[in-house]
Amino acid sequence: MTHTEFLPSKYNRIVTEGKVTFKAPSNIALVKYWGKKEDQIPANPSLSFTLDACATTTSISYAIVKGKGSGFSFEFLFDGKPKPDFEPKILTFFKRIVYYLPFLREYHFTIDTSNSFPHSSGIASSASGMAALALGLMHLEKELDPKITQEFFFRKASFLARLGSGSACRSIEGDLMLWGGHKDIPGSSDLYAIKYPFEVHDVFHGYHDTILLVDKGQKQVSSTVGHDLMHGHPFAEQRFAQAHEHISKLRGVLATGDLKEFISIVESEALTLHAMMMTSRPYFILMKPNTLKIIEKIWAFRATSNTHLCFTLDAGANVHVLYPKDEKEKVNQFIKDELVAYCENGQYICDRIGFGAKRVLPAQV
Ligand code: DP6
Repeated sequence: MTHTEFLPSKYNRIVTEGKVTFKAPSNIALVKYWGKKEDQIPANPSLSFTLDACATTTSISYAIVKGKGSGFSFEFLFDGKPKPDFEPKILTFFKRIVYYLPFLREYHFTIDTSNSFPHSSGIASSASGMAALALGLMHLEKELDPKITQEFFFRKASFLARLGSGSACRSIEGDLMLWGGHKDIPGSSDLYAIKYPFEVHDVFHGYHDTILLVDKGQKQVSSTVGHDLMHGHPFAEQRFAQAHEHISKLRGVLATGDLKEFISIVESEALTLHAMMMTSRPYFILMKPNTLKIIEKIWAFRATSNTHLCFTLDAGANVHVLYPKDEKEKVNQFIKDELVAYCENGQYICDRIGFGAKRVLPAQV
């Protein structure tokens, strides 16, 4: 597949105005995307669990503008209030995708967005936010061209979301998403994410992710800066090869439910991501002392409790605790007794694997 697949055919309908709302979830990578080439092409494939509770809801109102110039016309609201500091990000996104959605120049858009998680939680909203926005714009494209199939709708939404934020392409569907070409995975692509196409053991269904908010501050390193650090990084090539290997290994692990090996790959991925940041120039330590305390506690509890919880990390200090749904009671008790003390203001978010974005119908908004 090439990007030309996503160029629109001539629209044969006229749509003057409308409104649509989508709710798109966040996702947590098991195999991390870290490093990219031009045009948001990932340096290696990544695999993620789609989440459920952490989500962004975005309403887009659109109205055709007659005799418009060549610029874009939009306003951005966050929780119903104007938020002009988000507008440059939207403008960059529109510029990147207008080639694939030329109607963007013909409408005025009011984009109203809100997150289910607190803005200052240190949880990035770019994945869920860009996914919800891409879906809303695809809705308008489908109005203009009703022949668009459901499959193409989701694939192009993922393609567009990727151009907004790489990991966003994995937030369109669920429950396990793969983004990036991999030799053993038919249909895999650098351009969009696909549903993981192989067998997945029951133990992974309904997997839990409790997000421990260790540091709710602004990200110390933006993802753009972070990905850039992989250019000229002394260990980049080995890291990219490792991600391919991890995805190959996970095939058997996910099919058989081999939790021991699952844990080993997932924790290694998290630590490698941070190791890449610690060994780049400039270098960064994004974990906090409490991140390490939590990791040590998890290892100690796992060794003595016959449970299978493990951790993963994003490019920050918060810890995602992953565990099978059958171990929920034991692990939740452990989190309350031993881990909450390391969270900022004792805050954490209980989430689990979800099945992707949904349209929110007017009566529900
Ligand atoms: C560490 O998707 O936020 O969460 O493409 O620059 O928007 P941009 O980066 P982004 O990077 C996410 C990096 C990560 C790992 C992952 O989600 O795979």
